[in-house]
Parts: sequence; C-alpha cells; structure tokens
Amino acid sequence: SRTYKIVMVRHGESEWNKLNLFCGWFNAELSDRGRSEAERAGKALKDAGYSFDMAFTSVLKRANNTLEGILQQLGQTSTPIKKSWRLNERHYGGLTGLNKADTVAKYGEEQVAIWRRSFDVPPPPITPDNQYYNVILNDPIYNEGPHKDQFPMFESLKLTIERTLPFWYDYIVPEIKAGKKIIIAAHGNSLRGIVKHLDQMSNEQIMGLNLPTGIPFYYELDSNLKPVPNGSLQFLGDPETVRKAMEEVANQGKAKK
Ligand code: 3PG
Repeated sequence: SRTYKIVMVRHGESEWNKLNLFCGWFNAELSDRGRSEAERAGKALKDAGYSFDMAFTSVLKRANNTLEGILQQLGQTSTPIKKSWRLNERHYGGLTGLNKADTVAKYGEEQVAIWRRSFDVPPPPITPDNQYYNVILNDPIYNEGPHKDQFPMFESLKLTIERTLPFWYDYIVPEIKAGKKIIIAAHGNSLRGIVKHLDQMSNEQIMGLNLPTGIPFYYELDSNLKPVPNGSLQFLGDPETVRKAMEEVANQGKAKK
C-alpha cells in the first residue's frame, strides 16, 4: 500500500548557538556557518533528487532563513510556505539568554541536562527582569498567536509537544495524505516532539535524542502515518558526520573545558 515521505530539518547554527546561549523563543539570526549549513542541506536534497510541493516552518527567522536557503538551492523559491509559532523551538523560560556552559558551572551538568532534554521538567519561568522578556513578549512575529494571556513563560518538551501536535494534525497530516511532498524546517526540540510522536518513543528514549543543525532527515510513513521499517530519522549525510554533529549539540550542555 501507499507510503509517504516527509523531510524535516533543524535550522542551521544560529548566532546564539555560536555563543552557546539558551535561545528558545528569542528570534536569533543564523550565523554564517548556519547559512552555509542551509546551503549544504539544499545541495544534499537536490543531489538526492528531492523537490517539495509545500513547506512548513516556525515564525523564527533562523528556521525561515534555513528553509529559504534550502529552497534556493533546489530552485524552488515559489514553494508555498506556512509559518506557525506552533513549530517554534521550546520556550527556554528564565534560561533564555544564559550561556549554557556558565549555567552548567552554576547548576551542574545533571540539572542542565534535565532542563534541556527531559520530557516534563520545564526550565524556570522567564521573569520581567530578564533582559529578553519584553523583546520576546512584544515581538510582532507573535501577533498571530499565542494570545498574550496564554503566552508561555517556559515550556517543557511535553508542553512543546502539546502545542505542536495540533498543528501537525490540522495542517501537515492533511497535506501528507493528499500526497504532497513536504519539508518541515524547525527546531531541535519542536522536531524532537514530532519524532517522539511518530516513533512513539518513551520519555526515557527521547532524553537521548539530540538533533544536529542543518542535516535533513526523512521519515517514510505507512498509510496510518506510522514509520515503515527503517523509515525513521533517516539522515541525508554520512553516518560519521551525523554522529559528530549530534555529539556537538549534546556537548553544548557540558562544562567549559
Ligand atoms: C536553543 O533554543 O537554545 C537551541 O536552539 C536548542 O537548545 P538545546 O539544544 O540546548 O535544547
């Protein structure tokens, strides 16, 4: 019976990834490396013969510009793009703007690993004394939602999944079932939520998943949108490159050498 393929990619390195700062809902730019990662991702997709009918992304420019870079390489800049805050990175709350290694020095690797990768332990809430509190709350990119009285002050992965899945079901699934070729350009943790859902991963299993920046992966789904055998998290890159890139993300949460 019919199967469906969907491509996903975490944005390229952002300026804040480069500075190793917790970013979340702050609208950081791509770094030069991030822009070249987007270009390389586009070339890899082109060489593998991919083309897309539709694209989905968050409202954050690091994901939007990654998608644009990819579509440019594919010669598909007129591909319809739907943006939603529901594909945003997890809101890092009071950690927003803090350096990850300094945070390890202050709270220990264990606590930072829990904040970064646990399923239902949220970071502390962002408070008005955080220098990014207002710039995030009043960023016009959030004019389409969430409503100000429901604007998150922090998100666990569980809370992130709860606001991402409605978008997956309402907007992405219908297009998949209509046979559209789709790419999602989003974020390390919003994609971890989709991956956890598709693979029915346990809360423990998802703890171990670090998604690398800028390396596309695909899922091949059956008619019930369940991954076919060997149809999960298939990266377009050589395994060694992928492993090193995943390790780099994991190490962002380690103490300074
Ligand atoms: C951020 O929001 O800081 C990054 O995009 C993801 O961070 P993490 O890998 O520490 O979850």
